[in-house]
Amino acid sequence: MRPARSGAPRWLPPALLLPLLLCCPLAARGDCGLPPDMPGATAQLEGRTAFPAGAQVGYYCNEGFAKIIGKVNVVHCLSSGEWTRLEVFCQRSCGITPSVLYGHKKDIYIPVSYHPAGFVVEYECNPGYARNHSISANVTCLQNYTWSKPEVFCYKRSCPDPGKIENGHISIPTDILFTSYIYFSCDPGYKLVGKTSTSCYYEGNDMIWDDPFPKCQVNVPAPKSPPTPPHPTTANVPDTEGTPALQNLTTRTTQNRTVFTPPSTSKGSRLLPAVATITASGNTFMTLTVLLMMLVAIGYRT
Ligand SMILES: *[C@@H]1O[C@H](CO)[C@@H](O)[C@H](O)[C@H]1NC(C)=O
Ligand SMILES: *[C@@H]1O[C@H](CO)[C@@H](O)[C@H](O)[C@H]1NC(C)=O
Ligand SMILES: *[C@@H]1O[C@H](CO)[C@@H](O)[C@H](O)[C@H]1NC(C)=O
Ligand SMILES: *[C@@H]1O[C@H](CO)[C@@H](O)[C@H](O)[C@H]1NC(C)=O
Ligand SMILES: *[C@@H]1O[C@H](CO)[C@@H](O)[C@H](O)[C@H]1NC(C)=O
Repeated sequence: MRPARSGAPRWLPPALLLPLLLCCPLAARGDCGLPPDMPGATAQLEGRTAFPAGAQVGYYCNEGFAKIIGKVNVVHCLSSGEWTRLEVFCQRSCGITPSVLYGHKKDIYIPVSYHPAGFVVEYECNPGYARNHSISANVTCLQNYTWSKPEVFCYKRSCPDPGKIENGHISIPTDILFTSYIYFSCDPGYKLVGKTSTSCYYEGNDMIWDDPFPKCQVNVPAPKSPPTPPHPTTANVPDTEGTPALQNLTTRTTQNRTVFTPPSTSKGSRLLPAVATITASGNTFMTLTVLLMMLVAIGYRT
């Protein structure tokens, strides 16, 4: 094995080389001198120029080379003034495996850094994606130590058909594939209880809608003009998502009435009564109001 060409590390500026060479003899007595050149490897001299008996020097593999597992990459200076002998420990290798769209290399290949020509690395799809079996998920180290070009072999998995929601509508702007959103709305007269959208995601090995679908509940409108005195039971109830008291009324009563409500700005305009379903609350005042409004509406139409 030939001795390394230069005693000084290559990164030192030339101005520093001369004083270094003058002050330090390259191989003093009982000194091993520079460690041997190894193919595809660089010795880690760490600025040292003298290597007495017992000194150790390690090597790292150059770019385009990889360490052969199990081979020694450290030399020791013996008292005889010679370095211990090494077998070749760096070999030509493809570099870092390429990244692929929607996939990753299988776990068994992660610790492997030595990829000789012909070496095959197998990939698999990320969660939420499925293998397209008509395209290879392998990448091969070619004879010129570059990787073969991976094709896109993963495609987005689909969530179950969302179907329908009662008294509402599901809008699908793009598709029902992984990461896509769908949106919910309720028919007129119903209010949405729950989330207004959800997205397609994975749970374990299954594709699922990330949130429970909302419910469309019958909307109970608050009594409108003429203004009525505040109802005693609703006076102190916070009005966030329909008062619990009104919800209770909705579920308890069975007697519904259809009411024609003239539009508030009906002056001179076409009188198309909006139809609203309200729940009888036993409030006779309201019933009377409703009857009056119906009569007014019928009167306008005829
Ligand atoms: C699988 O790949 C083939 C070839 O590129 C393509 O025609 C096909 O549409 C792909 N299948 C899916 C489900 O993406
Ligand atoms: C991918 O590599 C595996 C393991 O080497 C092999 O069994 C499989 O046949 C290869 N597939 C293709 C398409 O080359
Ligand atoms: C390596 O070989 C492949 C296949 O022969 C070729 O497509 C590619 O361009 C080559 N790469 C380089 C850097 O020579
Ligand atoms: C609504 O009804 C439930 C049981 O049916 C009762 O526990 C709750 O107190 C009621 N809420 C109101 C505001 O009346
Ligand atoms: C009251 O209306 C609700 C919601 O529209 C409906 O499910 C129910 O059957 C109606 N009840 C009667 C007695 O008409």
